[in-house]
Amino acid sequence: MNTYEIIQQAELFVQEELGRDTTGHDWWHIVRVRNTAMLLASRYPDADAFIVELAALLHDVADEKLNPSKEEGLAKVRGWLNTHQVEEQAMEHMMTIISTMSFNGGKNPPMDTIEGQIVQDADRLDAIGAVGIARAFAYGGAKARPLHVPDQDFSELDYRAGSKSTIYHFYEKLLLLKDKMNTDFGRDLAEQRHQFMEQFLTQFYAEWNGENLRS
Ligand code: ADP
Ligand code: NI
Repeated sequence: MNTYEIIQQAELFVQEELGRDTTGHDWWHIVRVRNTAMLLASRYPDADAFIVELAALLHDVADEKLNPSKEEGLAKVRGWLNTHQVEEQAMEHMMTIISTMSFNGGKNPPMDTIEGQIVQDADRLDAIGAVGIARAFAYGGAKARPLHVPDQDFSELDYRAGSKSTIYHFYEKLLLLKDKMNTDFGRDLAEQRHQFMEQFLTQFYAEWNGENLRS
């Protein structure tokens, strides 16, 4: 199977696996991450475009939120790569990217290859800006989370489980992502999207507090 056919097969596999997800990992998330990753890869000619594209397509198949465990999710991806005769070195590279790219409270080791850095940046970019805001509220809705709970202490990260609002998620993750970007180009894009989230929060609090009710 050539690389073009492997990519085509991967698209079908991911649509099958994630097509029905309603928690922010749907097929269109994968399409956006793939497109952003390919755009980043075009800026970094040393990056292997096949690894970037395939890792972007498969990156959420193993997500522990969508599998009985992270190990089972990773085994599924490895099995797929084996069946599709992806060569050993590329397979190991892909598995490293997929198993270490999530935010994980900032606890995963830094990505040490340009391909991993690109795919991780593309995934992070999709968590911020207008799309990131939409995904966060979609996720919060799917988990029956409140939009916002006033007077929460955002510096208190070990907060009572179950009471987190979606606005809180901005402080525990979304607003931190711009400083975690790997590539310069990714950082530029993240900066713009970050500013948009800041504007969104300013407007959100103003409306919440009835500060701009004049017509
Ligand atoms: P990723 O695809 O970057 O690995 P996650 O699996 O952490 O992202 O989450 C998928 C989407 O759901 C992201 O847009 C993320 O910001 C959002 N999300 C995750 N946890 C929460 C939460 N507690 N509240 C609101 N949104 C969340
Ligand atoms: Ni993702």
